[in-house]
Amino acid sequence: MLPSEGWLRAPRAVSLLCFLQASSSFEVKDSSGKVCIIADLTVAFSVEYRVGGQKEFVHFFLPQNASVDSQSSCGKDNASHPVLVLDFGAGHSLSLNFSESADKYQVEELVFHYNLSDATLFPNSSTVGMKTVSHKSVIQAHMGTKYRCINSKHINMKNANVTFSNVTLEAYLTNGTFSVNKTECAEDMVSTTTLAPTTPKQTTGPVPTPGPAPTSSPPNPTVGKYNVTGPNGTCVLAYMGLQLNITYPKKDEKMALELLNFIPHNTTSSGRCDNTSALLNLTFEKTRVIFQFALNASAEKFFLQGVSVSTTLPSEAKNPKFEASNNSMSELRASVGNSYKCSSEENLQVSDQALLNVFNVQVQIFKIDGDKFGPVEECQLDENNMLIPIIVGAALAGLVLIVLIAYLIGRKRSHAGYQTI
Ligand SMILES: *[C@@H]1O[C@H](CO)[C@@H](O)[C@H](O)[C@H]1NC(C)=O
Ligand SMILES: *[C@@H]1O[C@H](CO)[C@@H](O)[C@H](O)[C@H]1NC(C)=O
Ligand SMILES: *[C@@H]1O[C@H](CO)[C@@H](O)[C@H](O)[C@H]1NC(C)=O
Ligand SMILES: *[C@@H]1O[C@H](CO)[C@@H](O)[C@H](O)[C@H]1NC(C)=O
Ligand SMILES: *[C@@H]1O[C@H](CO)[C@@H](O)[C@H](O)[C@H]1NC(C)=O
Ligand SMILES: *[C@@H]1O[C@H](CO)[C@@H](O)[C@H](O)[C@H]1NC(C)=O
Ligand SMILES: *[C@@H]1O[C@H](CO)[C@@H](O)[C@H](O)[C@H]1NC(C)=O
Ligand SMILES: *[C@@H]1O[C@H](CO)[C@@H](O)[C@H](O)[C@H]1NC(C)=O
Ligand SMILES: *[C@@H]1O[C@H](CO)[C@@H](O)[C@H](O)[C@H]1NC(C)=O
Ligand SMILES: *[C@@H]1O[C@H](CO)[C@@H](O)[C@H](O)[C@H]1NC(C)=O
Ligand SMILES: *[C@@H]1O[C@H](CO)[C@@H](O)[C@H](O)[C@H]1NC(C)=O
Ligand SMILES: *[C@@H]1O[C@H](CO)[C@@H](O)[C@H](O)[C@H]1NC(C)=O
Repeated sequence: MLPSEGWLRAPRAVSLLCFLQASSSFEVKDSSGKVCIIADLTVAFSVEYRVGGQKEFVHFFLPQNASVDSQSSCGKDNASHPVLVLDFGAGHSLSLNFSESADKYQVEELVFHYNLSDATLFPNSSTVGMKTVSHKSVIQAHMGTKYRCINSKHINMKNANVTFSNVTLEAYLTNGTFSVNKTECAEDMVSTTTLAPTTPKQTTGPVPTPGPAPTSSPPNPTVGKYNVTGPNGTCVLAYMGLQLNITYPKKDEKMALELLNFIPHNTTSSGRCDNTSALLNLTFEKTRVIFQFALNASAEKFFLQGVSVSTTLPSEAKNPKFEASNNSMSELRASVGNSYKCSSEENLQVSDQALLNVFNVQVQIFKIDGDKFGPVEECQLDENNMLIPIIVGAALAGLVLIVLIAYLIGRKRSHAGYQTI
């Protein structure tokens, strides 16, 4: 490998606003001046070192004036791989070795060399000299696409962690500039989080391998059958599938989404009723939803007046304990003695952050004869949905009628025709 292969390049785009966290851009060119690697990235380091008998942690960013080391190279066929080596400070460097396989390229190895003799970064370090840590296969993208990752990607190594963010990177460039098409990292594709995989929580989790995988929404929740018994017998009868949708900030201030389907046979229900209000309390694992129904006595109608939600979010959430409630709703309304039914999905807004999605609901509150649902009052959404087939059906019936009339008239005319001959 010729040392002249790697070219020293100053950072291309420099954001002047925040010199510490701004992305820097680096390029590697081959001996003919053709660009083969471009990397726009923000890199944060966290290093553990010893001062006396104590552990110390230092945190720093890849500085803007980091330079592309002359060991950087575009690689030589199968003899050597492309590599980007960034030098910074007093003898520190970060290198990304690339490799290709079939239609993909990847950062096969990330190597971080740091110099504990650098007293500005590692004051009073007990040990001096160079340390090296590395990690295999950190980034992967399709050939002919740029790798894009806005979210943070943490790479934990022994005594040092490296965090990439706001990354746009491409190796094996043919055109001297970033490709139009991109491979989005899994972290960006879905901002939802996957919880313990053993629990049947339905979250649209990140796809483990990058690639153009579609973000699929979770299946609809199973319909659960819940009831509450009051002093005069069953006072709440509710069949419904429940899905909770919570948007929350993570520790890094990025937003994430949690979609949770209630599993009926793991949901416990309780509640109570009095003459004008009824509570249905559903608990599924660490999540509780309380429905508060009220009676509009003058109109003899029951309705859902309030919903409270409490749950525990994944530990990456800024505040894992989550609570929300809305006590001024007017949903699931029907006359006392009748049941409210809706086959369409209904989205109940609990707060800015929390949405309760209700599927295939049928509820009846207060007066329930024989523990069975009374006459059905269908929701507006269903009626709208029903309207389309009715209109189509009516149109078809009309058409049939017109054809029939036309036929009859035609037949009559032709008969008349015969008679005149
Ligand atoms: C990401 O980097 C680009 C420059 O490469 C910069 O313009 C943009 O502001 C950065 N975005 C964030 C969120 O830091
Ligand atoms: C990079 O910048 C830092 C401070 O901004 C400065 O101390 C250092 O000398 C610079 N290094 C190079 C190689 O220019
Ligand atoms: C590359 O690999 C091929 C076969 O795998 C071999 O014939 C060729 O000599 C190699 N080229 C170099 C530069 O090593
Ligand atoms: C990656 O590049 C560094 C610096 O050139 C080198 O020391 C290391 O051996 C390379 N690793 C691989 C797997 O190519
Ligand atoms: C690296 O991250 C892990 C897990 O987040 C943490 O336990 C460890 O202390 C970190 N190490 C350093 C040097 O920051
Ligand atoms: C190369 O760049 C040109 C314009 O910059 C574009 O029209 C062309 O499609 C690019 N080719 C590839 C393979 O990306
Ligand atoms: C980008 O991807 C689309 C769809 O895969 C493809 O049709 C198009 O040709 C690609 N564009 C380039 C410049 O490669
Ligand atoms: C629901 O109804 C079943 C049978 O009708 C009964 O065994 C159960 O105790 C009821 N649950 C509640 C909470 O009232
Ligand atoms: C979840 O809530 C977010 C924000 O309100 C919304 O964009 C998204 O469509 C919702 N998803 C579902 C399945 O309800
Ligand atoms: C859910 O119910 C199934 C079967 O009743 C049980 O095996 C499983 O442990 C339950 N899960 C939780 C989280 O309670
Ligand atoms: C129970 O029935 C009695 C007698 O019909 C009635 O006075 C009372 O209000 C009912 N209580 C509830 C909670 O419906
Ligand atoms: C709801 O149920 C849970 C557990 O079944 C119980 O701890 C809680 O006190 C109940 N809340 C209400 C308002 O009934």
